[in-house]
Amino acid sequence: MSDATFYRSPSSVASSFSEEERVVMLLSDAKEACAGLPAETFRLVISSPPYNIGKSYEKQTSLEEYLAWQEGVIVELVRLLKPGGSLCWQVGNYVNSGEVFPLDIYFYPLFKRLGLQLRNRLIWHYEHGLHASLRFSGRYETLLWFTKGSNYLFNLDAVRVPAKYPGKLHFQGKKKGMPSGNPLGKNPSDFWSYLADEWESGVLKIPNVKANHPEKTCHPCQFPVELVERCVLALTEEDDWVLDPFAGVGSTLVAAAKNNRRAVGIDRNADFCELAKTRVTDLYAGTLKLRPLGKPVHVPTGKEKVSQIPQEWLQKNVNNSNLTLSLGSDTD
Ligand SMILES: C[S@@+](CC[C@H](N)C(=O)[O-])C[C@H]1O[C@@H](n2cnc3c(N)ncnc32)[C@H](O)[C@@H]1O
Repeated sequence: MSDATFYRSPSSVASSFSEEERVVMLLSDAKEACAGLPAETFRLVISSPPYNIGKSYEKQTSLEEYLAWQEGVIVELVRLLKPGGSLCWQVGNYVNSGEVFPLDIYFYPLFKRLGLQLRNRLIWHYEHGLHASLRFSGRYETLLWFTKGSNYLFNLDAVRVPAKYPGKLHFQGKKKGMPSGNPLGKNPSDFWSYLADEWESGVLKIPNVKANHPEKTCHPCQFPVELVERCVLALTEEDDWVLDPFAGVGSTLVAAAKNNRRAVGIDRNADFCELAKTRVTDLYAGTLKLRPLGKPVHVPTGKEKVSQIPQEWLQKNVNNSNLTLSLGSDTD
């Protein structure tokens, strides 16, 4: 059976919402589009909103104005969420004149005021990125997972990862001598670094890496499909509706469609919307390139050119012991 027949696939992605559709991409402002969607429809809302940092797709404003705008969208999202549904909000920092404002700290009270309950503050950790010189370099973003009520879905078995020591045994009690782990693997924890290294090194354009990452598009802040897929698998069932109000090039739609969930994406940029639709139709056709779920992160062997000390630094006037130390912490 080909991938194309495996997915419950319509021939195209719809441009307006109806309960009969499977994947919908709306070219619109997020708040306006959300206002037109039916209440309590979505089992999962997942998004990475603009961070107000002056990216090409956003106009930077004060933090207060930005949060007031986001709150208007979030009120709609909570209305659209099913009781027991999940909302995952992935954010980094807003930085103004060198001062750092971690956005999850500012978003938390907005969600809490609207009655949502926090289940995890997940850390998405990566090794690569811009090097700061006036503070420590930033190497993680956060994903806040909230639920609407306490009777929520959590399919842990769908996202277990291989245990480091599967042969570990109970050393006392009734189960002494029996395996202590779970044959399906262990809980992936709230610290996710399983794929971000190569993703971020792609962003940095280290030679041959950006070109090698199968998912990269022209979008400046796309998320890896695998990151959304973990939430889709753990927090929804097949045929559930998933919503991304700032969908960009449709990584959420791809993750949902790939796992037989239904999805709505919204973005106000027409080019991103078109690309999102193309990615989903390519998925249905079996031609979309994706990083396989759970593939181990690439570990440098030391033989790659990028993992070797540059010739220029190996000259007599450079103190080699310092060099080793600094390379140990900052090789990217
Ligand atoms: C951080 S990106 C999301 C990228 C997405 N996660 C992906 O993987 O492609 C934020 C997106 O929000 C969109 N956006 C900004 N303001 C918007 C608005 N008012 N309504 C809808 N979309 C908006 C931008 O065009 C951008 O694609």
